Amino acid sequence: MAEPNGLSMPLGRTDLSVSRLGIGAMVWGDMSAAPRWNPARNVYGPTSTAEEQRAALEVSLAAGVNLIDTAAMYGKGASERRVGELTAGRDVVVATKFPFGFFSRTSSLPATLDNSLARLRRTTIDLYQVHYPFRWMSIPTLMDLMADAVEAGKIRAVGVSNYNAEQMRAAHAALARRGRVLASNQVQYLLLHRGPETDGVIDACRELGVTLIAYMPLASGALTGKYSADSQPAGWRRRSSSFRNENLANLVGLLGEIGGRHDRSPSQVALRWLIQQDGVLPIPGAKNPAQAAQNAGALTFTLDEAEVEALSRASG
Ligand SMILES: NC(=O)c1ccc[n+]([C@@H]2O[C@H](COP(=O)([O-])OP(=O)(O)OC[C@H]3O[C@@H](n4cnc5c(N)ncnc54)[C@H](OP(=O)(O)O)[C@@H]3O)[C@@H](O)[C@H]2O)c1
Repeated sequence: MAEPNGLSMPLGRTDLSVSRLGIGAMVWGDMSAAPRWNPARNVYGPTSTAEEQRAALEVSLAAGVNLIDTAAMYGKGASERRVGELTAGRDVVVATKFPFGFFSRTSSLPATLDNSLARLRRTTIDLYQVHYPFRWMSIPTLMDLMADAVEAGKIRAVGVSNYNAEQMRAAHAALARRGRVLASNQVQYLLLHRGPETDGVIDACRELGVTLIAYMPLASGALTGKYSADSQPAGWRRRSSSFRNENLANLVGLLGEIGGRHDRSPSQVALRWLIQQDGVLPIPGAKNPAQAAQNAGALTFTLDEAEVEALSRASG
């Protein structure tokens, strides 16, 4: 289990200091120009307003949350544009992802990176991640392009996302040949999806000193306990396996019971369980300041070992 105290940690073996919880901005921005099939436009129902997103960022920063995650693909650049607008001139660790679309090629990385820098209104991206291990993109070639971008001062740290253990090792080795480190692997990891514990990803992260950035940590809202058969969530997510999981009611009950002991919500307990796993950094999506403040509250209490164990057993 991770050292329970402390608001921040180094990102992998880099000199970037990041909060132990970030904020996911997938559904931020004006999605009206994004294609209908773009997940950022459809999965969560209507997006919140720019003002709600601005306030969500402000309460997060005030609570010590300094990492915000976006991607070129989210809303075809809309999320990056909004993150750029809101973070301009602020001391925030900005993470984004390549590529821009599913049909991109490896060789488009330098131009795609320049477009992300422009939308984000920055000269350097703190963490640049390869979004998916697309078969047609050679990992060593991508990592060479990433190392070039680090040397050009356009990115500070290199990450990947949705990489399995073998792909992570290949990326790590390719970067090591250029004297660079792999900082992070962003994968789906949450109480309802413990795959990284058994597929070798979490072990590889710990062995290689790579931070595991846990996406969808609230199971798209299912772990908040606010949805039920009578109160379905907006958007395509309602058809996802999280909302149909047989164990969901039982787990939300336990999150509520443990939360009651600490005066915390089920969401905060679910996020805290992740924070207390070694080298794991959850990035919950927040639509408004109330959600952002609640999520940041996961940084300021501690589950005891028996509680962590009970949650692990109930979700395993
Ligand atoms: N690398 C990848 O392939 C990948 C894939 C997916 C996501 N991500 C990243 O991970 C981030 C988080 O994932 P996610 O947004 O899909 O899922 P999530 O964090 O599990 O769920 C976010 C949703 O839960 C609800 N919520 C959040 N905090 C809440 C609170 N305190 N109380 C009540 N409801 C709350 C909100 O929706 P409602 O209020 O509408 O319920 C919010 O949009 C994304 O923003 C993105 O940066 C990466």
